[in-house]
Amino acid sequence: MAEHFVCNISELAEGDVRIFEGEGLEIGVIHHRGSYYAYQNLCPHQGGPACEGLRLPQVVDVIGDGGVFLGQKFDEDDMHIVCPWHGYEYHLTTGSHVCNAALKLRKFGVETRQGGIYVQI
Ligand code: FES
Repeated sequence: MAEHFVCNISELAEGDVRIFEGEGLEIGVIHHRGSYYAYQNLCPHQGGPACEGLRLPQVVDVIGDGGVFLGQKFDEDDMHIVCPWHGYEYHLTTGSHVCNAALKLRKFGVETRQGGIYVQI
């Protein structure tokens, strides 16, 4: 396993993604709510650059008394990475596809120390 310096913490603002290459892989590091998530920038569907896609919250149904459908809302606690090629969605914190847990983005460990962001490949 190799460790790669990605950038300084100050260079990756909340909500941003940093793409870098290490060990022959293209990897995206995403800053979300003070945490950092690293995935190979390769969608398991057909190889799209998943980390470069939009990040959107889960849409959930709002059900009222008696099971009455009241509408839909965003669940900001469940952000998704949306692959830009065909729209497959992956949970931001785990990399698992939202409907098929067998489909996952390849995840890497991220560490922050002394002002820097490091990924273990
Ligand atoms: S390549 Fe990602 S959704 Fe198809």
